[in-house]
Amino acid sequence: MKPVALKDDIFWVGALDWAVRDFHGYETPRGTSYNNYLILDEQVTLIDTVKHDFSDITVKNISSLVDPATIVNVVVNHIENDHVTSLDRIMALAPNATIYISEKGKRGLDRFYDLSKWKMKVVKTGDTLTIGRRTLRFIETPMLHWPDSMFTYVEEDRILFTQDAFGQHIASAARFDDEYIADFSDVELHDAVVDYYANILMPFGTMIKNKIAELQKMELAIDVIAPDHGIIWRKNPQQVLETYLDLANSKSDLSVAIIYDTMWHSTEKMIVPIAEGIKAEGVGVKVIKLRATPMSVAIKEFWKSRGALIGSPTLNNITYPSVAEFLTHLRGLRPKNRLVGAFGSYGWGGGAVKEIYEEFKRMGLDSSEPGLQILYQPSKADVDACFEFGREFARKIKEYHGKF
Ligand code: FEO
Repeated sequence: MKPVALKDDIFWVGALDWAVRDFHGYETPRGTSYNNYLILDEQVTLIDTVKHDFSDITVKNISSLVDPATIVNVVVNHIENDHVTSLDRIMALAPNATIYISEKGKRGLDRFYDLSKWKMKVVKTGDTLTIGRRTLRFIETPMLHWPDSMFTYVEEDRILFTQDAFGQHIASAARFDDEYIADFSDVELHDAVVDYYANILMPFGTMIKNKIAELQKMELAIDVIAPDHGIIWRKNPQQVLETYLDLANSKSDLSVAIIYDTMWHSTEKMIVPIAEGIKAEGVGVKVIKLRATPMSVAIKEFWKSRGALIGSPTLNNITYPSVAEFLTHLRGLRPKNRLVGAFGSYGWGGGAVKEIYEEFKRMGLDSSEPGLQILYQPSKADVDACFEFGREFARKIKEYHGKF
């Protein structure tokens, strides 16, 4: 796509990655984009670069507006590979440019490139850079979502460039929230935000709350939030800040996510009566079969619901591999304020349900005990037990509010 103006003389010059479905192990059914931005002022300034494979596209976009050799400043808000692996290409075209970066960003970037050949300036929160008619203000945002991360704010245009924060993995002809909502829906956009948050930012909820509070204290007027992935927020940028606060505050639906896998359908046969028990208490239910669902969707659905029941057959006395894989992903995301339980079937000797509870404890999740195990196929009595298991869990969910 060609450059798109955010405001006068400020352009998106990034690239769309329509085809990516696996983003470092995170499924991206909507594709993604690598957003970077060009400010045409007395000092031409580039905010971020793109993934290496797309360097031709951003260079073409920049070149359609200005000779890249005239770039004076390159701001590097985040050093993950998808944002800096075309930095060398840009710097080859603009060798006299100065790179503005956080202290931890510089330390990390040193592992990518020989920095001695480039002019570098380390910046911290509160530092400013006047580029002509505009002033850029830097705001460090460590662990949102890497140690090096920072935001850049353009005071005169009231644009906040936020690297990964407030992004979504979307490749779309629409560049802005209002366009995307018109083409698809606000529900679709909200879902993409929750997906991104759950899979990338879940561990950093406390830091996100603190950083948003800090931004509010700064009283920055914000017309546009421009992240490095997906849609740019211009219709109502406050809305995405509020969504992030809800997510960081562990806000959830009054529902249970049943996340399971099955070997010979015995564990699967437990699900309908469990779901009916949950429903009988007026609590919503979602069912996610792991090998039929992208892992990122399972993680998102886990985070959206107040509680989760994890179902697994026992295989060789331990948890079924796809369920263990889900739990490993989940542990890395350090979830909090969710009530969990486990159920499953076994043939010779149990093992999976016990192991899943041990994993819950390792994660520090609140768990509802005991779990439920059945031998081989559910009998009539087992079906009744499943219904009661679901019903009891739903009762607990209605009373559960997490630890805040
Ligand atoms: Fe889009 Fe943390 O990289």
